[in-house]
Amino acid sequence: MRTVRLGIIGCGLIGREFASATARWSHLTEMNVRPEIVAVCRRHPELLKWYTDNFDSIELATDDHRELLACDAVEAVYCAVPHNLHEQFYCDTIEAGKHLLGEKPFGIDKPANDAILSCIREHPEVFVRCSSQMPFCPAVQRIGDMIEAGAFGRIIEVNTGFLHSSDLNPDKPINWKRTIAINGEYGCMGDLGMHACHVPFRAGWRPLNVRACLSNIMKVRPDGEGNSVPCETWDNAVLLCECVDGQTGETFPWTMKTQRIAPGEMNTWYLEILGTRASARFSLKNPRLLEVMEYGGGEQAWQKIDMGYQTAFKAITGGIFEFGFPDAILQMWAGFLYELANARPLKKFAGCVTPEETALSHRLFTAALESQETCTTVALPEA
Ligand SMILES: NC(=O)c1ccc[n+]([C@@H]2O[C@H](COP(=O)([O-])OP(=O)(O)OC[C@H]3O[C@@H](n4cnc5c(N)ncnc54)[C@H](O)[C@@H]3O)[C@@H](O)[C@H]2O)c1
Repeated sequence: MRTVRLGIIGCGLIGREFASATARWSHLTEMNVRPEIVAVCRRHPELLKWYTDNFDSIELATDDHRELLACDAVEAVYCAVPHNLHEQFYCDTIEAGKHLLGEKPFGIDKPANDAILSCIREHPEVFVRCSSQMPFCPAVQRIGDMIEAGAFGRIIEVNTGFLHSSDLNPDKPINWKRTIAINGEYGCMGDLGMHACHVPFRAGWRPLNVRACLSNIMKVRPDGEGNSVPCETWDNAVLLCECVDGQTGETFPWTMKTQRIAPGEMNTWYLEILGTRASARFSLKNPRLLEVMEYGGGEQAWQKIDMGYQTAFKAITGGIFEFGFPDAILQMWAGFLYELANARPLKKFAGCVTPEETALSHRLFTAALESQETCTTVALPEA
């Protein structure tokens, strides 16, 4: 069993989820690699105590990411910092020779993403991926198997999205994800978009052009100190793309919604694929349910399948039990470390987002901003 010693930079909301996943690695039964957290870095020290209280393996707790990167014990880094820091922190990590699992959007904008990809090209010995956990849900793994098997026939239409609702509350105080300076011009696309892109991109479906409709619904928010301050980011994005299937050359429409103000939707990630021979849909609104329709010329009937714990990486949990958010994070970690240790993913849809897939997302979101600005359909540039 190979041990990969990890540093975590950015120990906020999602950093703790990752740390907790490493603490239950014994959940996985067939891994030939395991993580061990040896260093943590966060600007504000309060939460570091949670890490040092819970992980005896931590040798270094610092507020300086360069100190963590200089630590010889660290082989790989999980970096979950605000978007304005991605370029600097990811490039520093890669240049320090540490493998990297970064967070989306993998650069606050396209120039930042370009700089990260150029740094990766200069350091081919470093393994770099971007996080995206939803494809590890059992129903999505099943849909991935169907895509690999060519089960859908000709693709008629694809619909993906990620919907949140808490910003419907006008009294919710502003945070960094609602500012252009820290979250970026993409707004909700930068924060939520990668989640909605990963499966189509991995399937080899490439957007050729986009017509975007972006909305800034709440233009002011409380700052938590009794003031009302501008809230400048896009709350909701609806994208209509003409997409090409890389295998067949056929084109089809793809709609992608990323919304922070989707009434009633707490954390709804969804995927719908309609094809000439089969169709499938899944939504986190009803996370056990996979709907599939196979068509061979007879009755057109949707099947409702209760998915249990049929995961890509085998686990101790019985197959009939429910799968949840911490399980998806654990599976994604397994996907990252498996690919790092074995130089290939376990299977096509059991790997994290590649740097090239992040670059495609930046071409899409940048074109979407132009589409909104010009009220036109904008072609995506070639890679
Ligand atoms: N995969 C997912 O589902 C998911 C969910 C939420 C957030 N994210 C991504 O994770 C990243 C972080 O988001 P979050 O919600 O955890 O944010 P957060 O605000 O909760 O945490 C950010 C962390 O970065 C640290 N930080 C800020 N400046 C720093 C500096 N100069 N040096 C060291 N540490 C610094 C903060 O101390 C904090 O610990 C973003 O890229 C976000 O898009 C991913």
